[in-house]
Amino acid sequence: MDKKVTLPGLRDLKRAGKKLRMVTAYDFAQAGVVDRSEVELILVGDSLGNAVLGYADTVPVTLEEMLHHTRAVVRGAARTPVVADLPFLSYQVSIEEAVRSAGLLMKAGAAGVKLEGGTPFLETVARLTAVGIPVMGHLGLTPQRVHEFGGYKVQGKAASQAEAILDDALALERVGIFALVLECVPAPVARIITEQLAIPTIGIGAGPHCDGQVLVLHDLLGLTQGMRPKFVKRYLQGADLAGKALADYCREVAEGIFPGPEHSFTMPEEQERLLRDVLDGRR
Ligand code: KIV
Repeated sequence: MDKKVTLPGLRDLKRAGKKLRMVTAYDFAQAGVVDRSEVELILVGDSLGNAVLGYADTVPVTLEEMLHHTRAVVRGAARTPVVADLPFLSYQVSIEEAVRSAGLLMKAGAAGVKLEGGTPFLETVARLTAVGIPVMGHLGLTPQRVHEFGGYKVQGKAASQAEAILDDALALERVGIFALVLECVPAPVARIITEQLAIPTIGIGAGPHCDGQVLVLHDLLGLTQGMRPKFVKRYLQGADLAGKALADYCREVAEGIFPGPEHSFTMPEEQERLLRDVLDGRR
């Protein structure tokens, strides 16, 4: 299957009414699995912090960590465009720093970058797109601001707040983003924004009316433990299956079942005899 998806081509897919599928990946093996699926876009999300590195949230994730994991994902994604997150503090300080950070992610092989926020970053997005760096927007619950929000809370429940998100979405589109992630906003709000934009919206906890959906791979595969947000659907009980596989491995090693002959290497019989004779002679 040839995917032939390009970031500028996403608008046409929206116009054609195609539902887009994006998932995160953080390493070479995960990227390979996703690349062989029908998923159109891979996101190296800064959810790397929670899903892979064991941080409490995405705030501690560094540009160096994002670069390291983006390179690995790009090596595993032969056919699927990879978008990489700009982590906290890699684009907020100045437009120059944003260009440098985004440029390094592009040099690592990303096809585009994603940043969180609207009005404060319009000039930044304009500059990035002007120098040839495709930008995906991210509005609603933007996890890099979790401390300001006081938790992972749905955004845009009040009409005035929803209107502000819509205005940010329209402004981001005007300065050139190629797609917009909407996270944890009420479905009617996501629907209105989706109807008003020419670029695709990609929802997570934003209901069924977005042009596409995104999930964190570890959530989708059931690898994450603990509390599960309402919007996550597990398509595999990955942690349970992995736990069972490890229990089987431990039992088989303990009982001498693994490794069997099919997992072991042989040597010519006469060489084994010769080895034993030589060792006998040493005694
Ligand atoms: O970091 C991430 O994985 C994300 C998605 C949840 C959209 O930003």
